[in-house]
Amino acid sequence: MSQAITLPMQVDRLPGPPGRRRTGPCTLVILGAGGDLTRRKLIPALLHLLGDGLLPKDFSVLGVGRKPLDDDGFREEQRIGDADPALWDRFAQSLVYLAADLDVPDSYAAIAERLEQLEGERGGERGRLFYLALPPSVYAEAIEGLSRSGAMPRRSAGDPRWVRIVIEKPFGSSLATAEALNRVARAAVAEHQIYRIDHYLGKETVQNLLVFRFANAIFEPVWNRHHIHHVQITAAERLGVEHRARYYEEAGVVRDMFQNHLLSLLSLTAMEPPATFRSEAVRNEKAKVLNATRADAAERGQYGAGTLDGERVPGYRDEADVAADSPTPTFAALRCLIDNWRWQGVPFLLRSGKRLPQRMTEIAVQFHAPPHLMFPLERGECVAPNVLVFRVQPDEGLSLCFEVKVPGGGMQIRSARMEFAYADAFGATQHDAYETLLLDCMAGESMLFLRNDATEAAWRVVDPVIQQWEAERPADFPNYPAGTWGPAAADRLITESGAAWRNPGSAEA
Ligand code: BG6
Repeated sequence: MSQAITLPMQVDRLPGPPGRRRTGPCTLVILGAGGDLTRRKLIPALLHLLGDGLLPKDFSVLGVGRKPLDDDGFREEQRIGDADPALWDRFAQSLVYLAADLDVPDSYAAIAERLEQLEGERGGERGRLFYLALPPSVYAEAIEGLSRSGAMPRRSAGDPRWVRIVIEKPFGSSLATAEALNRVARAAVAEHQIYRIDHYLGKETVQNLLVFRFANAIFEPVWNRHHIHHVQITAAERLGVEHRARYYEEAGVVRDMFQNHLLSLLSLTAMEPPATFRSEAVRNEKAKVLNATRADAAERGQYGAGTLDGERVPGYRDEADVAADSPTPTFAALRCLIDNWRWQGVPFLLRSGKRLPQRMTEIAVQFHAPPHLMFPLERGECVAPNVLVFRVQPDEGLSLCFEVKVPGGGMQIRSARMEFAYADAFGATQHDAYETLLLDCMAGESMLFLRNDATEAAWRVVDPVIQQWEAERPADFPNYPAGTWGPAAADRLITESGAAWRNPGSAEA
């Protein structure tokens, strides 16, 4: 294959997004307000929404945490240093705090009481949004506590005093525990009140998959096994396990990235066209395709010490809170097959890992090579198949590779790439996924959240892999040095499908 030429697509600068739907008055109750998620994701997202004029006029956050703080102490703790001071002051007024230990049953009654007091002060009908920013092991207890105390009543759809609950991933740690958690949640409130979050679904480029597939007619006729050779989905991270080893040791890469993010990307790539752009229509198709998906082969890896950008980094087993003989995988490659008419026999090759050479999430759809090549090629030369790539992050955009003739005498063929970059078309600003998702659940829009059946279907795909791996301790860990693209076994897994990973710098990329 010869070197690719890049052709920028002509894109007129497009106008910014239309105004988003506004939501009515509400209180966001964050359980676990002292945690990392609140400070790193939720508070910055809410502040941006306020800055963009997208928060409801009458909005408050009730932070619930163990730490003994008053409202001002909570505001100080959450302060974002580089925020515009006037905007921050306006935002801080909406923050209130309740110190409560969720292991103590009375705490839930205190939450209910504080909510009523807040709502009484503000008057009128308000929604309640509960956000479980808690360790997954206490989700069930928190849901039951909120329900028992009356803080989180069951409400019919359309009630202006709506009550909703956001449940963070991981939703369970296996099919059985996810089913049990679904039972607890559905005993407390109705399914339409439950928002199971997967932040990948809030990423602009992931939502764009729907638009690309279903607002353009030219790709649908070729979006099937007759034309597509395989699909590669990569979510590569440069970061290691950071300070989250206690969680990660239990989870490992398959629970952390595949059960949710990677299978969400697979479902959007492979689902049938929904008849309407309504939440249930889209969620039906996602659940259907996940129910037809199975893992056909899998390889695992764990990073050892290595070099990233010239810097030595420790191996996973040397990170804080990691067992010296930890069997936890930090890398996995799965070959999935989808047993339906559209996708029979097309491998979906999924991989994700920590401490890989660069941060990159993409979906690459590789089409079949021409069935017969009439051109006389030099010995050893071949033509590259067409590849359509959705770059989820960074450098969000799309590219399409195709073959062109090199000008001049003779017949020389080169690969060319047509590029579309979001930043060129819309400017650099993009909403963080949490902004989109928080706004959606306040507005009662559940399309980007996971329904119980899709969550369970995704567990059905990964459960057999996890069970097999947990039954057989890996003998070769660590099996890839930090700063490389994972273990050699992952290369074999894709070679068996007649393909190769699109590592940046490789012939395939
Ligand atoms: C989280 C995982 O859900 O997603 C993390 O728990 C991972 O381990 C993160 O690092 C990746 O998200 P993003 O948006 O940075 O790709």
